[in-house]
Amino acid sequence: MPTTPEIVRTVGGLRDRVAIWRRDGGRVGLVPTMGALHDGHLALVRRSLDESDRTVVSIFVNPTQFAPHEDFETYPRDEARDIAAIGAMGTDVAYLPDASEMYADGFTTTVSVAGPSDGLCGAVRPHFFQGVATVVSKLLLQCLPDRAYFGEKDYQQLLVIKRLVRDLDIPVGVVGVPTVRESDGLALSSRNAYLSDADRKTAPLLNATMRQVADKVAHGDDVAMAETWGRVQLQDNGFDPVDYLEVRDADTLAPIEGALAPRRLGRVFAAAYLGKTRLIDNIPVARAP
Ligand code: PAF
Repeated sequence: MPTTPEIVRTVGGLRDRVAIWRRDGGRVGLVPTMGALHDGHLALVRRSLDESDRTVVSIFVNPTQFAPHEDFETYPRDEARDIAAIGAMGTDVAYLPDASEMYADGFTTTVSVAGPSDGLCGAVRPHFFQGVATVVSKLLLQCLPDRAYFGEKDYQQLLVIKRLVRDLDIPVGVVGVPTVRESDGLALSSRNAYLSDADRKTAPLLNATMRQVADKVAHGDDVAMAETWGRVQLQDNGFDPVDYLEVRDADTLAPIEGALAPRRLGRVFAAAYLGKTRLIDNIPVARAP
């Protein structure tokens, strides 16, 4: 098993490497990331290694999914540590294109996915899903893996990617991998590194509040009332602003009127700030039997 992945920095280099694997009949998995890898990312890598003969992990902090006032410059970066972590697991290639390789001079094409991009993060970060959809389309077409792996922690992003792959007939299976959490329920995220000690202690209340909202909805409470209750809890505990706390249909992201119908699968979504750190999370909800 390799302990250092091969480092590839160009589209041509990646295509050459994948073509050789394909000639030998190998199944290829791609794990797109922005680096600062944590156990959530490593769960994606593990899944790919289990299901594929060869695994590529891409690390590219994609500028087009950040608005000018967001944290592109300060986003955590630790290439050497990331490479060591994925190498120890047996990753074949670390794909590390730079911005000029990814976006050549005069680049003007964008991919936007109406429907799943609307509302939730799409409402408060209008640039975000277009940036994600464009770079993910490129990564998939550059590598053409059999499967690509994404975390359910970014559930709306996962639905956007599933839709774009379907709509553009990209021949890749999109696999969603469950969120990895700290023992206190906080979803792992590269941005958790920004939290102060005090905010780190408060952060698990995001998931705890969402679980209470899910419990109310599971027992037939009015969804709008449960959402309002949850938002007030978060605000009272120092989350400011609360971008959203909403229960949506798990497949379509459509809002839910009244109570959640039996057999309909819902999902509780939340995004809220603690200090300068924006936390997001989502959990499933169904009516209690
Ligand atoms: O989820 C992420 O880390 C990014 O949005 C992705 C999918 C790698 C695209 O830049």
